[in-house]
Amino acid sequence: MAKAEQIIELLKSHIEGDDKRFLAIAMQVAAHEAQQGHEKIAQELKKLIDKAKDRQSSIQTKASVVNLIQPKGDLANLLSVEYTDITFTQLTFSSSISQRFKRIILEHRQHNTLSEHGLKARRKILLFGPPGTGKTITASALAGELRLPLFTIRLDGLITKYMGETASKLRLVFDAMKNTRAVYFFDEFDAIGGDRNLGNDVGEIRRVLNSFLQFMEQDHSESLILAATNSIKLLDNALFRRFDDVIEYSLPDKEQIKQVINNRLYNFKLNHFDWSKIFDAAEGLSHAEITRACNEAAKQFVLSNLPSISEQLLVDALQERKHTRIPSNK
Ligand SMILES: Nc1ncnc2c1ncn2[C@@H]1O[C@H](COP(=O)(O)OP(=O)(O)O)[C@@H](O)[C@H]1O
Ligand SMILES: [Mg+2]
Repeated sequence: MAKAEQIIELLKSHIEGDDKRFLAIAMQVAAHEAQQGHEKIAQELKKLIDKAKDRQSSIQTKASVVNLIQPKGDLANLLSVEYTDITFTQLTFSSSISQRFKRIILEHRQHNTLSEHGLKARRKILLFGPPGTGKTITASALAGELRLPLFTIRLDGLITKYMGETASKLRLVFDAMKNTRAVYFFDEFDAIGGDRNLGNDVGEIRRVLNSFLQFMEQDHSESLILAATNSIKLLDNALFRRFDDVIEYSLPDKEQIKQVINNRLYNFKLNHFDWSKIFDAAEGLSHAEITRACNEAAKQFVLSNLPSISEQLLVDALQERKHTRIPSNK
């Protein structure tokens, strides 16, 4: 018989909608039964697992046909589409950010179960924080985890100088949300979410924001709406209550610095690092800047035929990034 822990793991992966893990645990149970000499049970389990795998791959094939949606007509200038297989395991976030995305992913994987009880998955999410901390790549990871297309709204196509046009284009985008379940991503959101009272662009921008707020309120689709900005101070107050989640990103702490470096350089030969020197050099840099410094160090390692990546090589690359960084607009 399967151990209670295995049943717990099976149930957990079922709840999380993680089919791969579910089948991997089932395989462990089958292997265990075979080891115990319970050949018949092991065979039966194996047959059921194969059947489940077949079913899963046919669902995936169907899903990928649906996924090949391309925006047409006017929408083609407003949305760019991407299909990604990026997941959150490849990224480094604080545990509080990770927890919040786990919850969003779980709610979406289980959205049918929630709706049977009249409940809705959280769908409208605002990300803010300094540049290079992973807001844009989060949109790809969410789409990747949920196997949904990622539609990024092209602000150059959306915002026009003609009155009224922007609002009707925005309507097209919100209509698309109803028709095609996907992740809809408003990057550099301050361009439309700007404070209506700042009075810089008045007219058209104010109208756009008003329509955006109205569309957000009326939207009951099953799509995810994600907006990201570097400068939350610029956003209009009326926006915040339209979002189910407002998630703050920040520069990496020591633990995250280490994780970004280890993730990026895991297939290179590393010296034994004195991490305190690396932390000093990386302090104040974003995830993106640390990633770039790692790439520079790796290139030098390859091109100069070095025996390994030394701490000094990495420290130099990090310091160079600090000196070449563009001052942020905070
Ligand atoms: N939290 C993170 N974990 C791992 N890599 C990151 C992270 N944040 C940024 N990066 C790296 O930096 C690149 C740029 O980050 P991006 O998502 O554009 O940042 P932002 O949108 O916050 O300015 C990413 O494509 C990725 O390679
Ligand atoms: Mg970005």
